[in-house]
Amino acid sequence: MTQPTQSDADHIVEMEGITKTFGEVVALRDVTFELRRNEVLALAGDNGAGKSTLIKCLAGALRPDSGTIRVDGEVVEIRNPRQAKELGIETTFQDLAVAGNLTVAQNIFLGREEVTGPNTMLGVLDKRAMRERARELLEDLEIRVDVDEKVANLSGGERQLVSISRTLLSDPKIVIMDEPTSALSVEGAERVLELISQMQNQGISIILISHNLDYVQRAADRIHILHQGHSAGVIDGPTADRDDIVSRMVGGMPDEERGERPADV
Ligand SMILES: Nc1ncnc2c1ncn2[C@@H]1O[C@H](COP(=O)(O)OP(=O)(O)OP(=O)(O)O)[C@@H](O)[C@H]1O
Ligand SMILES: [Mg+2]
Repeated sequence: MTQPTQSDADHIVEMEGITKTFGEVVALRDVTFELRRNEVLALAGDNGAGKSTLIKCLAGALRPDSGTIRVDGEVVEIRNPRQAKELGIETTFQDLAVAGNLTVAQNIFLGREEVTGPNTMLGVLDKRAMRERARELLEDLEIRVDVDEKVANLSGGERQLVSISRTLLSDPKIVIMDEPTSALSVEGAERVLELISQMQNQGISIILISHNLDYVQRAADRIHILHQGHSAGVIDGPTADRDDIVSRMVGGMPDEERGERPADV
């Protein structure tokens, strides 16, 4: 395992020596991953490369077998999604967790229902305040869906937008999006890209997982590539050479970079 290095103030997240196995399967082996403040970092890699596993370790959905995670320079143990949220980390997972039988407003507040006034002890929800807050949130983001609509009646794209807007409710520092544009129309995906840019303008640091290299290159400041559970380098987003990205995705780190820390561009 790599020895922990000094924390870097430019990095809001530093994951070092992350290994995660599922029985015989080594999903991640000694991965070092860094997210800079206020950047959009894309995480790319073929199916099964370990992308979702890595971000689940940061989101508190999985515990790594070994490795260190620092957020804002502090070593943290992220045992569950609640602890991730407390650290300002919000996630939209690849397997969209929206409840079709609930309304848009209810989905936005799912798991963090507001309780107010004398009824707090009884856990009575302030439905009106939640509806109002959800409406404001969607309006700010220029997402035109009715907060009272059942999510089952929304399109896939609208569901994705609701799912992303949900992450912004708690004023997060870090937002992780696992395949937010998959299964979306061109227009829906464009809207998600705009939303990512809006979030970056608000000062949020963003991890974007996508198989769509056009979107990756448009959105990302840097691209971290994983190959079969190993880091295959970090490259500059806008100037990245498509062939270089693809060859790292299918073949791993180029020989000349092997043995070094992932290139820090
Ligand atoms: N809960 C699990 N139990 C067993 N194996 C798992 C589990 N989660 C992931 N894996 C395995 O770990 C490896 C990495 O999976 P992961 O989901 O992280 O890949 P990915 O890069 O997100 O792929 P995709 O692009 O298909 O979403 C795969 O071999 C996968 O089968
Ligand atoms: Mg995945």
